[in-house]
Amino acid sequence: MDKDPNKGAAEFLPDKLDLESLRIAAACCEGCGRFQNATQTVFGEGPSHATFMLVGEVPGDQEDRQGHPFVGPAGRILDRGLEEAGIPRDDVYVTNAVKHFAFIPKGKRRIHQKPTAAEITACQPWLNAELAVVEPRMVVVLGATAARSLLGPAFRVTKQRGVPVPLGERLAVATIHPSAVLRAPDREAEYEGFLADLRAAAHAA
Ligand code: URA
Ligand code: SF4
Repeated sequence: MDKDPNKGAAEFLPDKLDLESLRIAAACCEGCGRFQNATQTVFGEGPSHATFMLVGEVPGDQEDRQGHPFVGPAGRILDRGLEEAGIPRDDVYVTNAVKHFAFIPKGKRRIHQKPTAAEITACQPWLNAELAVVEPRMVVVLGATAARSLLGPAFRVTKQRGVPVPLGERLAVATIHPSAVLRAPDREAEYEGFLADLRAAAHAA
């Protein structure tokens, strides 16, 4: 019988729950099919007891090559937003709902593949473990994929963004994904909305 390709990350979790053990264990994760063509697992980064945890979708092309979250174009929008919202970079842990890049080759380009609902579920054990270790006061949910993972499939970012909602014992504020700013016809307006949501998160933390 075929093995389920999206069996999930749970069996790859380490016994010891600290960020270093998690990072080492996640490097060998085969909890869904995405590990196959990616360069590496891109795990979260930041201080182990950061006040803010920012959760994106999935590493992009640059993140896959470099092995760090949000180091490409979306990361530059995020950095600008954090600075302007007065969220100190050294009090932020940054991660993604799904830890492996997947793509379709198109000539020399690698076209980003959105994670499926099954892949989002498969990767949740890593995100839950990061939350359990870091215990952030405020979780900033960046876009629909992170919202699906953390707040469930019924949550609508467009309707519920910028408002603190409970997430277990923590608070979460959802906003658009920073790459949506890059794709928007009116980038400045989109960025201003993104910044307002980050400010709401900073205020509520
Ligand atoms: N987009 C994401 O969601 N995460 C990254 O790390 C980079 C781009
Ligand atoms: Fe494991 Fe997540 Fe990578 Fe899938 S995307 S192989 S669940 S780390």
